Amino acid sequence: MPTAIHLIHGDCLEKMKNMPAGETNLVVTSPPYNLGINYNTYQDTSDRSAFITWCLEWATEVKRVMSEDASFFLNVGAAPSNPLLPHQLLLALTDTGKTPLFTLQNTFHWVKSISVQTRTGETVSAGHFKPINSKRYVNDCHEYVFHLTKSGTVPLDRRGAGVPYVYKSNIARWGHTEGKDKRCRGNTWFIPYDTIMSRSKDRPHPATFPVGLVEQCIRIHGQGEATNLLDPFNGIGTSAVAAYRSGISSYTGFDIDEDYLAVTHERLRAEEEEETELF
Ligand SMILES: C[S@@+](CC[C@H](N)C(=O)[O-])C[C@H]1O[C@@H](n2cnc3c(N)ncnc32)[C@H](O)[C@@H]1O
Repeated sequence: MPTAIHLIHGDCLEKMKNMPAGETNLVVTSPPYNLGINYNTYQDTSDRSAFITWCLEWATEVKRVMSEDASFFLNVGAAPSNPLLPHQLLLALTDTGKTPLFTLQNTFHWVKSISVQTRTGETVSAGHFKPINSKRYVNDCHEYVFHLTKSGTVPLDRRGAGVPYVYKSNIARWGHTEGKDKRCRGNTWFIPYDTIMSRSKDRPHPATFPVGLVEQCIRIHGQGEATNLLDPFNGIGTSAVAAYRSGISSYTGFDIDEDYLAVTHERLRAEEEEETELF
C-alpha cells in the first residue's frame, strides 16, 4: 500500500485540532527556532517567552494526537550566540514543577559534519556545515533531536536503526546479540546533508533537515508499515519524502506557506517518477 499523504495549508495549531486524539504514533519535526531565519511567511523573531508559550501550545496539541506508545522526535538547533534555546524549550516541555507535558526519553545529537583521526594518523572529514567567521565561536556542526514520550518507557527498535559490529567475534560472545550482526548505534547520528549544486533549485528553504534524519527516527521507533507520521512544520516536505521512501501507512504535514507545500508536491512527484523509472 502506498503511503497516504496529507499536506495541509494553514496554522498547525488550528489544523491539528481536526485530527483525532491518540491515533498518531510518530511525530518528527523541526519548528522555527526563533533565531531570525528568513522564512517566506513566518516571522522568526518573537521574544523568547512568547516563543516558549507558543511552543507549549502546539506541543500540547501534538501530545493530544499522540498514542500512548508514540515517539516525538523534536529537532532543535541553536545559534552560537544563542546556545540555551534548545535547553530552555526542553525544560518548558518537561518541567517537573508542574504536570510535565512530556518525558525526555533520549537525547540524540544530529552530527552534520565530523573529523576523525584514523589509527594510521590520517584525518578524515565528512559532511557539510556553515562556516562561522568568529574569534570566539567555533563552527556549529550539530543539532539536538530530543526524543520525547508520554511515559518515558516506549520501547524502541535499537537494532533496526543499528550498525554492524566491527569485531564480529562479539556476535557470538554476547547473548543479547541473538546471533545478529547489528548493535545499537548510540545517540550520535552522523547524517550529512546531500551535496547540492543550486540552493534555490535543489533546497529552496532556509532551514531543512535531511531525509535520512527522519528515516532514522522511523526505523528506531520500530512500528514499520503501521507508522502514522505527523510533522506539524512540514517546510518543503522532508518528512513527507522520508515517509514515502519508508513505505509507512500515513503522513500528515502542515505549513503556513503555500510555496513550501508546492515544493513538497514536486518532491513527491519526483520520488514517484524515480520509482517508475526503476521498474
Ligand atoms: C524549520 S522549518 C521546517 C523545515 C522542514 N523540516 C523541512 O525539512 O523542510 C519550519 C517551518 O514551519 C513553518 N511554520 C511556521 N509557523 C507555522 C505554523 N503556525 N503552522 C504551520 N507551519 C508553520 C514555516 O513556514 C517553516 O517552513
